[in-house]
Amino acid sequence: MRDASDSTQGTSSRSGPGFNRRDFLKGSGAAVAASAVATAVEETVAQDKDKLPANVVPAKPVPVKLEINGKAHTVTVEPRVTLLDVLRNDLNLTGAKDVCTTTNCGACTVIIDGKPVLACARMAVECQGKKITTVEGLGDGKDVDDVVKCFVKHDATQCGYCTPGFVVATRAFLNSKPNATLEEIRKGLGGNLCRCGTYDGVAHAALECASKKGGK
Ligand code: FES
Ligand code: FES
Repeated sequence: MRDASDSTQGTSSRSGPGFNRRDFLKGSGAAVAASAVATAVEETVAQDKDKLPANVVPAKPVPVKLEINGKAHTVTVEPRVTLLDVLRNDLNLTGAKDVCTTTNCGACTVIIDGKPVLACARMAVECQGKKITTVEGLGDGKDVDDVVKCFVKHDATQCGYCTPGFVVATRAFLNSKPNATLEEIRKGLGGNLCRCGTYDGVAHAALECASKKGGK
């Protein structure tokens, strides 16, 4: 038996499951309205394009010169493109990982002028004239950085997604504090997250490097 809150024939219930005709029509109307607004905005932008103030630069691709791992690169990208996207999409340097894209995980860490930097939080155009090192730059095909060797020795990786960011962050940290203690290492690498929980392996890998004065 229906109770008073149920729909009667020809009218719809708001509380019941499913998608009724009235909701559908409302949704369609909203979609049409949204589309009309988008079109109007596009037309306004197109009309106003010639009226931009002199100090406003339209977002069109520009040549960007970057020095990465000792090599000069030039890419043509819009000013809004991040260093991380340029590395991964334009230069095929996929070591820096795109995990959160919101500066929370550290998986995209690179070294810029000696400091650890989140590549997802830097526009590529900002990085011109700076020395950029990615995880690919911590090896030359014959040998690898001691940090990498220590990560392998201490099994400091599981799925590996966070690992390049941790390796680069560790290298940058040990460059600034070669004799770091375990506690300092844990704090120093606190900006990098590992969803698999390899923190202990990472910390002990870094500690072994620190016992070699930061390694090289
Ligand atoms: S992808 Fe850059 S901090 Fe997570
Ligand atoms: S090893 Fe899987 S996220 Fe760190």
